[in-house]
Amino acid sequence: MVTASAPGKVILLGEHAVVYGEPAIACAIERRARVTAERTGDGGLTIHADDLSLDGFTVEYEGGPDGRPDVDVPAALLEAGMGYFEGAVAQAREAAGAPAAGVELTAESSIPLGAGLGSSAAVTCATIEAVTRELGVELDEREVADRAYRVEHDVQDGNASRTDTFCSAVGGAVRIEGDDTEALDGVSHLPLVVGYDGGAGDTGALVAGVRSMREQYDFAADTVETVGDVVRGGEAALHEGDLDELGRLMDFNHGLLSALGVSARTLDAMVWAARDAGALGAKLTGAGGGGSIVALDESDDTATALRYTQGCEQTFRAELDTEGVRVE
Ligand code: PMV
Repeated sequence: MVTASAPGKVILLGEHAVVYGEPAIACAIERRARVTAERTGDGGLTIHADDLSLDGFTVEYEGGPDGRPDVDVPAALLEAGMGYFEGAVAQAREAAGAPAAGVELTAESSIPLGAGLGSSAAVTCATIEAVTRELGVELDEREVADRAYRVEHDVQDGNASRTDTFCSAVGGAVRIEGDDTEALDGVSHLPLVVGYDGGAGDTGALVAGVRSMREQYDFAADTVETVGDVVRGGEAALHEGDLDELGRLMDFNHGLLSALGVSARTLDAMVWAARDAGALGAKLTGAGGGGSIVALDESDDTATALRYTQGCEQTFRAELDTEGVRVE
């Protein structure tokens, strides 16, 4: 039996634009998905997944690929959740050269589902690591990242960049540009505060919305390119440790994402609460449409303000996690 874990993430700058080849910067955070894998003799796949959420709904089910659990979770989210486990196990079986290996998984996560905090990438990376180890094979982080990306790409119908999966696999701060993935050295602390509205955006639909807007309007395509410029500026600010500038660029990035139609009333309310509380910057993180914002604030003021913001269900300080996927 092997247990592996992998961190969630926030996207500091560049979501959506990264799908069209612009750079993005993401940070792994100290909230993990944990998966235990045990080889079984039956050739099947059994998944026990309790509490795949911070609070709110709980996913509990046992069964093979055809068994549909009876739980109170949006069907699309559940389908996707099962797709990540099944895809990750398929990748692990292939990597281990054991296509018929039976596997029993037990998963738990402290990352809310579909909240823009990388829960699916974390579950996928942890599952690949746990199952390959259980089948006697050791993959390096980059191979876990690559295989996890293939799973996300399939489950999300091609609407996925390498951002979440690479970040979860290697940890720390990372930069993604197309297929180029890079760990950013020298970033060990960022005063990140997360606000979560308890909801979930539909990543596939949001990506499709930006895609059609970009095709319809040149100025939307220009907006996507401008996000790329903002990210390049942010990378320099991060390198110089200039958090004031990084914050300003996060604010700018949120405005551009809003123009592209992926913000939401709850996200805007949390962003403004953070700014009013003195955060250096605040923006939605991940696909948007609902879910989470990330703010930069060394003090407790943003978290306090978010606690009193209508629509904010959870707020927490998100420490940068320098470790990626690992065996527990
Ligand atoms: O919803 P999340 O956290 O997986 O973020 C999606 C980020 C996008 O840029 C919209 C899509 C992607 O795969 O990069």
